Amino acid sequence: MPKVAIIYASGLGRTKQMAETIADGARTIEGVNVVLKDAYDATIEDVKDADAILLGGSTYNYKLIRAMDPFLDKMKGLDLKGKVGIAFGSYGWSGESIPTITKRMKAFGMNVIEPGVTAIQVPDAAIIERCFKTGRTVAQGIKA
Ligand SMILES: Cc1cc2nc3c(=O)[nH]c(=O)nc-3n(C[C@H](O)[C@H](O)[C@H](O)COP(=O)(O)O)c2cc1C
Repeated sequence: MPKVAIIYASGLGRTKQMAETIADGARTIEGVNVVLKDAYDATIEDVKDADAILLGGSTYNYKLIRAMDPFLDKMKGLDLKGKVGIAFGSYGWSGESIPTITKRMKAFGMNVIEPGVTAIQVPDAAIIERCFKTGRTVAQGIKA
């Protein structure tokens, strides 16, 4: 079965809300396995057989939230070439998280769809809608 993995790190729950909405959108497509996990709980098993991997993280102190680092490091050991990747996350002003995640996914050889999905602070209704549609579109895409 095609699989979408959505892995996120979030301090105040904003990127988490985006992740949950992406997962809700992906779950509207039947026959796709949707895995949603906090980076603390995620293992490489969650992503190694995924067709699409969506990685979310917010920005703290001009860097990607640190909770995402151990998982990104674990991903280094996998063959992720050609898998679809999308970065997402909330930020306040400088927003380093999205370019950082994007760069890491590209270094893994993933096929990254840009620009990803971003929110400034609390995601508004339009961003939530975008998250939902992104999840649905990716799930549709990997099933086709
Ligand atoms: C202590 C602290 C440091 C932050 N540093 C940055 C920063 O350097 N750049 C930025 O764009 N946003 C920064 N933010 C804003 C957060 O990225 C923003 O509030 C975001 O919505 C948090 O999302 P989360 O709930 O998914 O962690 C900071 C927030 C806090 C509380």
